Amino acid sequence: MNYKNLVKKATEAQKYSHAPYSSLRVGAALLTSSGKIYTGCNIENSSFSLTICAERTAIFNAISNGERKFKAIAINSDKIDFIPPCGACRQVLMDLAGDVDVVLSDKKGKISITKLSILLPASFNNLIFKPKK
Ligand code: THU
Repeated sequence: MNYKNLVKKATEAQKYSHAPYSSLRVGAALLTSSGKIYTGCNIENSSFSLTICAERTAIFNAISNGERKFKAIAINSDKIDFIPPCGACRQVLMDLAGDVDVVLSDKKGKISITKLSILLPASFNNLIFKPKK
């Protein structure tokens, strides 16, 4: 699958980043199984630990719009090449999106694709703890 458009959407999502403390703008774009794309950016808070990453903004955006099946997430930033999701985002994504493709890109448009299960092996997820329907 060609993720060029997904990477473009992640890049565009950086526009809305609220990052007055780190000045690092991060964008994420999540592709559903039906082909829709939901985006997110990082949103920082003066109480630093309440900051939310772009990846979690994107998955919460999708879930809150009724989506439940996902294919891939693209992430990029304005300063760091191939910005990988932080540990908290890996856990949240595995729980809610499953073992999706993770598409990282640099500013030259180079793309690196891995799987979430490579970034978060032997994860604690709903295969172990099944949520009630
Ligand atoms: N950040 C993300 O949005 N995603 C990541 O995977 C790593 C970090 C954000 C959080 C914070 O606003 C800034 O980058 C610096 O950590």
